Amino acid sequence: MNSAKTLDEIAAVRRSIRKYDGSKDVSREELETIIRFAQEAPSWKNQQTSRYHVVCNPDIIAKLRECLGGTNPQKTEGTKALIVTTFRRNIVGFNREGVPDNEVGNGWGFYDLGLQNAYLLLKAAEEGLDTLVIGIRDEPSIRALLNIPEDETIAAVIAVGHRAEEPQRPPRKELEKIATFY
Ligand SMILES: Cc1cc2nc3c(=O)[nH]c(=O)nc-3n(C[C@H](O)[C@H](O)[C@H](O)COP(=O)(O)O)c2cc1C
Repeated sequence: MNSAKTLDEIAAVRRSIRKYDGSKDVSREELETIIRFAQEAPSWKNQQTSRYHVVCNPDIIAKLRECLGGTNPQKTEGTKALIVTTFRRNIVGFNREGVPDNEVGNGWGFYDLGLQNAYLLLKAAEEGLDTLVIGIRDEPSIRALLNIPEDETIAAVIAVGHRAEEPQRPPRKELEKIATFY
C-alpha cells in the first residue's frame, strides 16, 4: 500500500501501537521496503553502523517477546515482526586510532541508529504498517537468543504489525519550550 501521503499525513497516522490484529500478516517484502528506506538516513561519515536483526518466525517472536520488560510482552501480542536494532560500537564518533572525536563518543552511534529508525517508522506508516519502539527490554537475554555479536550495542526493539486500536495523539510540548531562536 502506498497512497502518496504527505509527510504531515504520515506523521499524523503514525502512532505507538500497543494492541495488534494478529490476523493480518506483514510480508518479507514490506519489511525489506521499510529497511531499504531507513538506509537512506544520513550517518556519520556515511559509516552505516546500524544493524537490524529481523525476527519473523512466530516461534522466535514468542521467545523474543519474553525478553521484553514491563507490559511490553502483552503489548506486542499479534505483531508479525520484531526488529532488534543495534549499532557496531566504537566506530562512529571515533578516529582511526579509536580515540573519540568529542565528548559524545558512542552517543553518535545511537544518534545514527535513532535517525535511521525514525525513517523506518515513517516508511512503515506510509506502507500501512504499525509499530512500537521498545526500550524496556532485557539486553542479555536478547543477545543470547539471537546470538548478536559482542561488538554490537543493542538499542530498541521495534515491533511491526497492524493496529487493533486507534490511540489518541499524546500531546506535544509548546514549541517555545523546546526551541530557542537566536
Ligand atoms: C526510545 C524509545 C523507547 C520506547 N520504549 C517504549 C516501551 O518500552 N514501551 C512502550 O509501550 N512504549 C515505548 N515507547 C513509545 C513512547 O512511549 C511513545 O513514542 C510516546 O509516548 C509518544 O507517542 P507516539 O509514538 O504515539 O507519538 C518508546 C519510544 C521511544 C522513542
